[in-house]
Amino acid sequence: MSSTDTVASAGGFTEGHFVTFEGLDGSGKTTQMRLLAAHLRARGTEVIETVEPGGTTIGQAIRRILLDPAHDHLGPVAEMLLYFAARAQNVDEVLEPALARGATVFSDRWTDSTFAYQGYGRQLGEGIVADLDRIACRGRQPDLTLWIDVELETSLGRARSRNVQESAEGTRMDEQSRAFYEQVLQGYRILAERQPERFVRVDGNGTLEEVAERVKLAYSRLEPSRV
Ligand code: TYD
Repeated sequence: MSSTDTVASAGGFTEGHFVTFEGLDGSGKTTQMRLLAAHLRARGTEVIETVEPGGTTIGQAIRRILLDPAHDHLGPVAEMLLYFAARAQNVDEVLEPALARGATVFSDRWTDSTFAYQGYGRQLGEGIVADLDRIACRGRQPDLTLWIDVELETSLGRARSRNVQESAEGTRMDEQSRAFYEQVLQGYRILAERQPERFVRVDGNGTLEEVAERVKLAYSRLEPSRV
């Protein structure tokens, strides 16, 4: 589906838009997603926010397995299947019902994260991610993805200070090497090159307000009249 098309569902409603937010840990994507959702709601759009992994109760249980630092022996294939299991549940429980009734759905991460983190970061390759996406998401693709791109140093620094401030132990993903994150970034760059209409890079450097303006501008491709 092109970014400007809408599809009439069986009930006669116009199907909502599916928009995802991507970026490295500490990129600010979650904050930017919330700001844009609040902005659109204030203008009368129904926006449902979800997150991967963890957008359903089953997804939250899977998320605890995935992020537990004690699971340092979790194999890369098992890890990838767990991300997709959480997503498949989200498709059934949150995403499809909301789109069918005409709501816009924002997701903090989706399959592009698996492409970048497992396909590139863990080097499992692109094909396996595409195959599993077909099974888990059954053809549903985001209409628009906003990639909040920050320097690797900024992202790692913010993620570390978040853990210190929250006295959190950190998650299994926080223990990855710098080389891993370089690979993840490479995955995101490839997506932006290949699918420039759908996967849009937003410069994430600067103040919250500056980035929020860029996010609005990028979103206006999808719904110019709503922003
Ligand atoms: P989270 O604490 O939600 O990080 P963030 O706030 O940066 O999104 O943890 C999610 C972690 O899971 C994050 O390091 C990215 C990783 N991840 C994958 O490796 N593959 C995936 O498919 C998804 C959705 C996330």
